[in-house]
Amino acid sequence: MLRRGGLVAFPTETVYGLGADASNPAAVGRIYAVKGRPKNHPVIVHVAEATAIKGWAADVPPDAWALAEAFWPGPLTLILPRADHVPDAVTGGAGTVGLRVPNQLLALELLEAFGGGIAAPSANRFGRVSPTTAAHVRADLGADVDLILDGGACAVGVESTIVDLSWGAPKVLRLGGLSVEALSDVLGHPVLVSAVAGGPPVLGAEAVPAPGTLPSHYAPAARVEVVAAEAVANRATALLGQGRRVGLLAPRPISGLPDGLDALPPAGRPQAYAKCLYQRLREADRRGLDVLLAVPPPATGIGAAVVDRLNRAASA
Ligand code: TXA
Ligand code: MG
Repeated sequence: MLRRGGLVAFPTETVYGLGADASNPAAVGRIYAVKGRPKNHPVIVHVAEATAIKGWAADVPPDAWALAEAFWPGPLTLILPRADHVPDAVTGGAGTVGLRVPNQLLALELLEAFGGGIAAPSANRFGRVSPTTAAHVRADLGADVDLILDGGACAVGVESTIVDLSWGAPKVLRLGGLSVEALSDVLGHPVLVSAVAGGPPVLGAEAVPAPGTLPSHYAPAARVEVVAAEAVANRATALLGQGRRVGLLAPRPISGLPDGLDALPPAGRPQAYAKCLYQRLREADRRGLDVLLAVPPPATGIGAAVVDRLNRAASA
């Protein structure tokens, strides 16, 4: 299917991807058409192993090899200067290319069998919640995708952490499944976090343009409000008083809440919260909620990515 220019959705450890042959501009073009995604948003090229990035990047600095060695296969995307042959459809016309080796057996088997790079954004329509099961992909993209590989629920549940190594000091462009702390440990110094990535303190200078890290991403139809656990009861009472259908997403059960508040199953500690986050946002819509009150996890480790996604969902 990939060799014929088709679209194949496949599981990764983060979210499901909508895959196409990365060396086939027409096939990659179909990704944009199906997602309804603006042309200047580059897509990540997935490869079977770290050495394969030499075929896609013009230059691989030592820091990139160090991170690849430490974290691949895994939820990390490296932005590197592009090789000449990389289609503009993949890079969005930029001088860089995003590369990743996913940590999911079916994905790795697919990549090995295919042999080339697979360009894949998350398998959702533009701006909507990313899919973490094959059923989510089917519900969102339907017949627009030629084939969906079902690998069960994604183990990590939020997208990969994106690190720009194309110039200057390594910089995090998107918080994700790999923590900023883990990156800093391997690099041997605090890693910069771009202002657009949100989350932890911004050590870097100006915001690097990182298309796709729009504030309004990852939103369900329900309005999301990020609230502290102590504030839930008052806010819920006010909203219920206005006749709204109000739900709650929180790490732990909260006592003393008003009748009529529709509490989703607790999201748990940060790793569990990340894994169930997108499923819970979908559940909010399935229950027909007008407003979802979301109590965030602590913003450290993978919790930083969860906080980031909740904030983006809330600003939609
Ligand atoms: O976990 C993930 O990264 C998933 C799975 C399928 O691998 N993919 C994913 O793709 O989240 P997508 O397209 O939904 O988000 C990729 C992000 C976008 O914000 C895009 O702008 C950014 O990566 N990106 C890709 N290539 C880039 C580049 N050359 N420079 C800057 N940003 C880039
Ligand atoms: Mg996406």
